[in-house]
Parts: sequence; structure tokens; C-alpha cells
Amino acid sequence: MTIGILKEIEGENRVAMLPESVATLVKMNVAVLVEKGAGERAFASDTEYEQAGAKVDTKPNVIAGSDLVIKINPPEKEETALLKDGQVFMAVMNPYFNHELVKEMAAKSITSFSLDVVPRTSRAQAMDILSSMATVAGYKAVLTAANTLPKFFPMFMTAAGTIKPANMLILGAGVAGLQAIATSRKLGAVVYVFDVRAAVKEEVVGLGGKFVEVEGAVDDKTAGGYAVEQTEEFKQRQAQSIHDQAVKSDVVICTAQIPGRNAPLLLRTATVEAMRPGSVIIDLAASTGGNCELTKNNETVIHNGVKIIGNSQLPTDMPTDASRMFGKNVINFLKLIITKEGSLNLNWEDDIVKGTAVTHGKEIVHERVKGVIG
Ligand code: NAI
Repeated sequence: MTIGILKEIEGENRVAMLPESVATLVKMNVAVLVEKGAGERAFASDTEYEQAGAKVDTKPNVIAGSDLVIKINPPEKEETALLKDGQVFMAVMNPYFNHELVKEMAAKSITSFSLDVVPRTSRAQAMDILSSMATVAGYKAVLTAANTLPKFFPMFMTAAGTIKPANMLILGAGVAGLQAIATSRKLGAVVYVFDVRAAVKEEVVGLGGKFVEVEGAVDDKTAGGYAVEQTEEFKQRQAQSIHDQAVKSDVVICTAQIPGRNAPLLLRTATVEAMRPGSVIIDLAASTGGNCELTKNNETVIHNGVKIIGNSQLPTDMPTDASRMFGKNVINFLKLIITKEGSLNLNWEDDIVKGTAVTHGKEIVHERVKGVIG
């Protein structure tokens, strides 16, 4: 079979596979077509792809010549138009929100896999691109905060006196939050953390963070490591506790999410207005509405001297390692659907294959996506 790797749109520096991942695919007995210039913004040249065993070609030729087409971002209209009946397509499709795209994929009889809905199970961990990108985002969020804050992160004893360490508040201790804790601790900040899942307390403490408990959280152990909606009573108690901590903080990093829903609103305007001017809020959840009431997606807002950064594209600023992680995750997924001889074998009994497929044979086959689209 042949796999095609497409170039991403302007402004996206990552690529779905670096040449090193292409070399792995070639070893898996698969032919690889790569769109011209696909890797250049991730510092991978066409020559390096050719040396890894790929053929470099134009977008239409790559799509026409491939059994399976891979991208990071959802396809552009011209790309969807070029896809053919029965072809397999793989990307981060954001299917809970991109309803038109899902319907179009079904109408065209494309077998589509959305890499952002890979089930969060231990067996699927090595394929979890959301975790990989959240790791990059958690790390970059802290570096962005350190670059923006008009103060040091670590404590210093200098001839000019003692500099106090920065106080950091992290909302949500999932993948991005834990990485943010680890990175800010390395830079010497004092870190306070909120989460609704009691299970993360041990990890937070292990990384040197201080876990702030709010009683009465709904913690559903059957939600696959994700949070669930909270009661109104809990939300009010948590809002007060977050307010009290935020006003003492120099930096707030927002990472709280409930998959498939808008991000929980945790930082109200009144709280931001009570924070010290010069403080920084990095809202990683900006693309789903943000944890902060004042966040604007992909914009920086200054409110009463507090900078609120809603950058949703942090992994694109670290394209080499972000592409490396993405490619490795995808290869781990491909190993489930490609035989040793290099041909496609879709095993619908496999929970990861089934749980990642969005459309197949003119149908929306993902139960939750089907439920959302109706
Ligand atoms: P995750 O699901 O692993 O972690 C989210 C955490 O938030 C969970 O531990 C959950 O229990 C917690 N949470 C949910 N509701 C809460 C509440 N009401 N109060 C306190 N904690 C709560 O998610 P992950 O992978 O760490 O991603 C975090 C966010 O970062 C997501 O919104 C994701 O879309 C975003 N992201 C942003 C990027 C960027 O460039 N800005 C890149 C990658 C991810």
C-alpha cells in the first residue's frame, strides 16, 4: 500500500511525519509519497524525505497515488475534494465540532480516523497524539509565562536583597498541567494546583506542586481518565477557592478541560481584576472557550494590567519535536492496521481501531460523534 503525507497550511509549522518516521514506514513495507515542501517549516527538506525512501510530489499526485492520506490539521476544501471513494484519511479532525467535515467524509465514503479521539487506555497510550501535543503545550506555556512576567521565577539571594520566587497557579493537572508543574518547578516557582480528579493529587505532590483540595468534586472513574461536569454547589465553592489563590499568584496556567464540551469557566473577570497588574494568565483551553472569562482564542488581551494569552497553537512553535512525537504516535496506530507485508487490514474488533474511526462506508461509525451530530 501507499501512504501520502500532506503539507499543512501556512502558519502550521509541524508535519505529520519527519523523514525518520518515513524511514520506519518504509521498513514496514509501505511506499510513501510526501507533498513537496511538507517538512520545510519543521526543518526537514525534500531531499531528506527522498533519502528516507519517499517520493516527493505535488498535492494532487500525492492524494491520487495514496491508499491512506495523513495530515495533522483537518483537510482543506480542495484536499477533501481530491479524496476518492474508499480511500482512508487520518488527521486531527476535531469531529465533535467539525460536523460538516464528518458529514462530507461519510458522503464521499471515506474511511476517516480522527487521531484526537484515540481511546485513552493504557494500550493506546503510545498513539495518544493529544497527550504528546499537551506535553509540548504545557512546557511552552511555562516558558511563555516566564518570558512575559516582569519578575524572576526562582528565588534569589543577591547583594541587592532577596528576590521571592514567583507564585504559580495551575488549573487542571492532566497531561499539559503536569508538564507545566514539572517545568515551573524546574524554573523555581512555587506551584499551587487545582483539579477535580482526586487521583492526580499524588502526581502533583510528586512533582513538587501543592494540591489545593475543594470538597465535593464529582470524580467518575469510568470516564477514562477524564473529568466530568461538576455540580453548581461545587463550582461555587471551587470558584471562591480559585479566586483566593489567584489573587496571590503571579502566573495562572489554565489547562482544565472536559472532552467534547466547552472548557469549564474557572477564572472570572472579578478574579482577574483582583490580580496584581503585571501578572500573566496563559489559557491553554482557549480553543474551547477558555478557563478564563476574558480569554480570546489566539489573541493576547490586557485587562487591568493582567496579560491573558490565549495561544492555541503552542505545538507549532516547537515543530521538530512536536512533529517527531506526532509521527511516532501515528506509526504506533498504523501498526494496528497494517500487516507485516505492508497491506491495509482494518480490524473492526479492535477497540482502538473502532474507537478512532469516525466514518466508514458512507456511515458515521463513531458512537459519540454520531450522538453529537444527531
Ligand atoms: P487532560 O484532559 O489531560 O487534562 C485536563 C485536566 O483538567 C484533567 O486533569 C481534569 O480533571 C481537569 N479538570 C476538568 N475540569 C476541571 C475543573 N472544573 N476544575 C479543575 N480541573 C478540572 O487535558 P490535556 O491533554 O492536559 O489538555 C489540557 C488543555 O490544553 C485542553 O484544553 C487542550 O485542548 C489544551 N491544549 C492546548 C494546546 C495549545 O497550544 N494551547 C495544545 C494542546 C492542548
